[in-house]
Amino acid sequence: MAVTNMKPRARKAAAQYNDYEHTGPVTLAGAFMRSGWQPVHRSQDLPSGRAKPLRIMSEGFTLFRGESGKAQVLAHRCAHRGTQLSAAWVEGDTLRCLYHGWRYDATGQCVEMPAEGAAYAARVKIASYPTREHLGLIFVYFGEGEPPAFPHIPAFVGEGHVETYVEYFPCNFFQCWENSFDEYHVHFTHRTGGMHPRYPELPEMTFTETDYGILRRAETKDGRVKLSPFLMPNVLRTTVPSPNAMQGHGPSERDTYLIKVPVDDFNHVFFITQQVRVREGEEAAYREKHAQYLEMRAKARPPHELGLEILAGKITLMDVVDHPYLAIIEDVVAQGGQGAIANRSEELLGRSDVGILAMRKIWSREMRAIAEGKPAKQWQPLLKMPE
Ligand code: FES
Ligand SMILES: [Fe+2]
Repeated sequence: MAVTNMKPRARKAAAQYNDYEHTGPVTLAGAFMRSGWQPVHRSQDLPSGRAKPLRIMSEGFTLFRGESGKAQVLAHRCAHRGTQLSAAWVEGDTLRCLYHGWRYDATGQCVEMPAEGAAYAARVKIASYPTREHLGLIFVYFGEGEPPAFPHIPAFVGEGHVETYVEYFPCNFFQCWENSFDEYHVHFTHRTGGMHPRYPELPEMTFTETDYGILRRAETKDGRVKLSPFLMPNVLRTTVPSPNAMQGHGPSERDTYLIKVPVDDFNHVFFITQQVRVREGEEAAYREKHAQYLEMRAKARPPHELGLEILAGKITLMDVVDHPYLAIIEDVVAQGGQGAIANRSEELLGRSDVGILAMRKIWSREMRAIAEGKPAKQWQPLLKMPE
């Protein structure tokens, strides 16, 4: 008889609150995601005086940095006849629409209409969203009412500098958020890097709900313990290997935040922000190697394109083992390989998936509370790393 993971009745009961994948403006998962601060862009990629279109959780916005240096997010379109505000002129800390010159301040208030009167301008306001910058990223609050406390994730402690990376994944964000709970995949997905033994024992893992999310405790047979905090709805703090073995300087492991944010239901961006602790006296050598690495990455083809070619059978992983960010290609293949949106109704879960189940249970509970208009849990910032 075929193995199934759910009795029909249980499947029906769970089906009500298990749409974790759709995060558009009128969805339950979207409401949960909008309850927290979300990173949308790397700070260093938005110079003063620049406006850009932004697409997050299937909605369009305009991101710009005013001449004072403050990053702002406004509605996607001008209130007049709806052209895109990303093409607007940045004037001071305001945006002047390219089409007929209506000008909006950072609160979305229209402050000038060249062909109309001031009274008309005073009556027009477009949407604006609270923004903050932290750890090299621009965070935005897209939810209702007052935003939660910021920062919700503490800065790294001690000496070191912060590096941020942004990767594009051509699949739904939730299957990649599940991957955050999936320590075991590294032994197989990333085995080309030689970083991991082949068939390791599964560590003893416990997942405990906390006031910020979930604390994972993993203990291996030799007594090593690793604690990883997961912040609801979508932030993991952990240590990961350096993306670049060729750097040769600095630590091989980096203290890291991993955050996955939907562009729409079939694509997401993966924000990686890390502390790099370079040994004393090795800063200059590190900077040189790092510049070489960034140059290599700039010349290399984007990991998601290569991942899709591998999935299409045009090339294999062994054709790209020299890519400067091989680990991301491997992850795109494994996670994108689950489909544009993974089909959870047909999966067969095992011991290695206990964390994923613990996380889904919390997501379902919170989505149900949102659906029923009951108070959802007020997640607290992670104040310090658990010990
Ligand atoms: S469409 Fe923006 S001013 Fe006319
Ligand atoms: Fe991975």
